[in-house]
Amino acid sequence: MRFITLEGIDGSGKSTQAKFLEEYLLERGRRVVLTEEPGWGKLGKIVKKTILKRRDIDLDPYAELCLFCADRAQHVRDFIMPNLKEGVTVVCDRYYDSTVAYQGFGRGLDLDIVSRMAEASTLGIKPDMTFFLSFPPEKALSRLREREKNSEKSDKIDEEPLEVHGRIAEGYAKISERNPSRIKLIDAAAAPEDVHRRIVSHLV
Ligand code: TYD
Repeated sequence: MRFITLEGIDGSGKSTQAKFLEEYLLERGRRVVLTEEPGWGKLGKIVKKTILKRRDIDLDPYAELCLFCADRAQHVRDFIMPNLKEGVTVVCDRYYDSTVAYQGFGRGLDLDIVSRMAEASTLGIKPDMTFFLSFPPEKALSRLREREKNSEKSDKIDEEPLEVHGRIAEGYAKISERNPSRIKLIDAAAAPEDVHRRIVSHLV
């Protein structure tokens, strides 16, 4: 198990679980890198800022799709692939399933086009295992609103209405059904330690 990705709607606790997973693997003597999408490297920083923060650019959804895919291709070529080649385990917080869930199901773009672009942006590097953290969109959204009050973390996608987050969650459920051997559905409504235990139970 060398390439592991985590997926879920915003506020589902993915990033916490990604860190727990990294620690777990390190404790077991594995060489591990933790990374995330979007936002890796110089291109990623520009892309992330453009998509999530630039309120002066009203991005067309297809432009947004292309930017997420550009970010991924660069991340795969310059970081994920070299690490995997060196025998390092890569844990990635979001990967191509995010594009299908958000731009395909969330934005309602043509699913076939989105899936093919998302697929192309992986340069053929598919995760060995993906954990989909399933969490109710209403609860996730209230968590995000709480977080926003206390920081500047708010971004344009977080601010989408509940309906959009609901479509993204349904999209993830469908993607999981279509990929039962790769994607493990994890109920993320439990305490973080329990969610972590559920995740690592798939790794033994
Ligand atoms: P970020 O702040 O990194 O989110 P999180 O903390 O949830 O990981 O912002 C990433 C946002 O971009 C998030 O709302 C999901 C969205 N996204 C897409 O819409 N498509 C994609 O392909 C990816 C990778 C992320």
